[in-house]
Amino acid sequence: MASAAAAVPEVALRSGSGNARPMPAIGMGTASSPLVPETTRDAVLAALEVGFRHFDTASLYGSERPLGEAVAEAVQRGLLAAREEVFITSKLWSMQCHPRLVLPSLLKSLRNMQLEYVDLYLIHMPISLKPGPTVFPAKREDAMPFDFEGVWREMEECHRLGLAKAIGVSNFTTKHLDKILAAATVPPAVNQVELNPVWQQRKLRACCAEKDIHVVAHSPLGGLKWSGSEGNAVLKSEVLAEIAKARGKSIAQVALRWIYEQGVSPIVKSFNKERLKQNVEIFDWELTKDDHIKIGQIPQKVVNTANGMFSPEGEFTSVDLSDMEFFEE
Ligand SMILES: NC(=O)c1ccc[n+]([C@@H]2O[C@H](COP(=O)([O-])OP(=O)(O)OC[C@H]3O[C@@H](n4cnc5c(N)ncnc54)[C@H](OP(=O)(O)O)[C@@H]3O)[C@@H](O)[C@H]2O)c1
Repeated sequence: MASAAAAVPEVALRSGSGNARPMPAIGMGTASSPLVPETTRDAVLAALEVGFRHFDTASLYGSERPLGEAVAEAVQRGLLAAREEVFITSKLWSMQCHPRLVLPSLLKSLRNMQLEYVDLYLIHMPISLKPGPTVFPAKREDAMPFDFEGVWREMEECHRLGLAKAIGVSNFTTKHLDKILAAATVPPAVNQVELNPVWQQRKLRACCAEKDIHVVAHSPLGGLKWSGSEGNAVLKSEVLAEIAKARGKSIAQVALRWIYEQGVSPIVKSFNKERLKQNVEIFDWELTKDDHIKIGQIPQKVVNTANGMFSPEGEFTSVDLSDMEFFEE
């Protein structure tokens, strides 16, 4: 079967165990709303066929089970020689961001996926919520102070047990990273954050580079939640459209290539085989210096905020929203 997998570069993660599989430089996102398990499973199989070997899921998304089923089916069909060929990330949801719930949550995710380990396990957000059934958006009164030291200690335990080959965080600002680094024996390998030409995260990228934390970009095409009446600011960008035309590429490919050229690995969601194929074909051409200058001047705006995780009613009682906010200028 023709596959672009060989053409995808890979990144060795700092805290990856000795036998850890390096992370392919582009991954497929599996978050969709509403989540339809069969559609998700078929999309993962289509992604494997066009060359994706890196998949991003989370207990929150409900996509762990169909992802695991697709990987098992791919091995059965001979599309993959073994599970070890794929790199799988899952995430600890905020209601389980309590030391005693970290290991049981990972074990549940592994059961959902029918896997023995994840390649990367991330704290989903710097937000801790009262334990209980998942309510989304969350209730303001359920927000609790985040025990960074205790939660990270248990993330390290997951790593020590070999259940997570590497561990990291998501949506963490430089301020949150400092708290983890102050407590860490095994520093986070990855920070997965919103990052694209419209939200370039220069300050955070510089901090992560200094601390040897690999940055992974979620919502690389502007995400599912399109902000404002003008729609998705990445896919509607005139600057990107002009560059795409000049390079004979799509806007999505220009955005993904720009992210890759920043040393960041995009996680892009498409459940459409043609677009999946397009998204993985970004490694045999380059943007010019002039393209980088133009993209560097795009006005910036963020889509995902901590505030957006909470329903507007109610009050924060034991923690300030500013302590949880995951964007910084
Ligand atoms: N850590 C976190 O808090 C967090 C937050 C958000 C997302 N994520 C992860 O990151 C992944 C990606 O982010 P995202 O889902 O928010 O958004 P995204 O990947 O930026 O954008 C997805 C949207 O773009 C469309 N699309 C994909 N490829 C395209 C192409 N080549 N041309 C035109 N449109 C295209 C998709 O539609 P089609 O499916 O129809 O192609 C979908 O509507 C998620 O699935 C999830 O795994 C993590």
